Amino acid sequence: MQNWLEKKYDELGKIEGYVKPEKSEGIKLDSNENFVIRNDFIRDISLKVLRKIDLREYPLEQFEEFYTQLSKYTKIKKSYLSIGNGSDQIIDLVLSIFGKHNRVTTFTPTFSYFIDRCKLYSIAIDQVPLEKNDNLLDKSKFIKSAKKSQIAYICSPNNPTGNQIEKQKVIEIINELDDKLIIIDEAYVEFANYSISNEIIKKNNVIVLRTLSKAFGLAGARLGYCISNEKFSNLFRKVIQSPYPINTISLCIGCEILKNTDYINETIKGIKEERDRLYFYLKKLENKIRVFKTDANFIFIQINDSERYYRLLELLKKEKIIIKAFDKIEGRNGRYIRVTIGTKEMNKRFLKIFRKIYEV
Ligand SMILES: Cc1ncc(COP(=O)(O)O)c(C=O)c1O
Repeated sequence: MQNWLEKKYDELGKIEGYVKPEKSEGIKLDSNENFVIRNDFIRDISLKVLRKIDLREYPLEQFEEFYTQLSKYTKIKKSYLSIGNGSDQIIDLVLSIFGKHNRVTTFTPTFSYFIDRCKLYSIAIDQVPLEKNDNLLDKSKFIKSAKKSQIAYICSPNNPTGNQIEKQKVIEIINELDDKLIIIDEAYVEFANYSISNEIIKKNNVIVLRTLSKAFGLAGARLGYCISNEKFSNLFRKVIQSPYPINTISLCIGCEILKNTDYINETIKGIKEERDRLYFYLKKLENKIRVFKTDANFIFIQINDSERYYRLLELLKKEKIIIKAFDKIEGRNGRYIRVTIGTKEMNKRFLKIFRKIYEV
């Protein structure tokens, strides 16, 4: 007879979980980080911070200062903001607290960490498929499903498809779901066309997730935040979040970066230009592959010819270029890749391999 602990271990062992991306000395285009930001810019800020801080103390003032800088950047009152150890941690806390015995509606494909976390907490998930041709969301189907759930998750721009869900559609969904907790994940919003944050401030059932891991080039610092009505942020800050979720070093680096948004904005502009260049280039291969319009710092490509798909993966590996490959996406045919928009040089090297496969 298994005891409760062994049973729990077995149950947890059946969850697929996180697969660590391959480490490479080459080019990392698999996790949507910002490599256009110069590393010496981040390093100089980090060294300046290290000279000033006192790690013997718990971070207290640093939280306040981070909220101040975040509020200036977002133009949202401090009291509407909450922070986490990456937005992943906020997702984790929200699901562990609000998900218990409840149901979630989201779409498919979407951010895998969110799905994995639901599985960890045994939260039932309904996934409405995005349209295969253009990744658009069927609003009515989503609302119908969400009405049977307690939580709705909308990743916009969506990972891995890249498209931002139309603003009017999101507003209509929110208006129909007054008694549900709605999580809007805007991890890639700096590369997109709009943010829903100002629209949701008055609602006590909607939270918007953001991060400094993508556009701000601070994936290693683990700084995520959430924009919400005060009812949620008060509870989150005082009761749900642990007292010191982020270390002093990261908080201080985050503050300094938020004071330097001109440079960050410049890199975002460059990434968007490169994204459009890549998109139009790949679009020319439309009879061989399908490339999807993207509002994020990555591009999603469908490859139907499995021989070319595996040859592409092999060549990329040989050239030490890491991308995210999807051998199978539920409910869809073909294979897919998701490629981060890197520096001009990185993108050039990726396209060179692509050209080899498609002989153009
Ligand atoms: C949609 C989405 N949300 C959240 C995250 C997590 O970001 P963080 O680094 O802030 O935990 C990611 C990272 O890949 C993401 O793609």
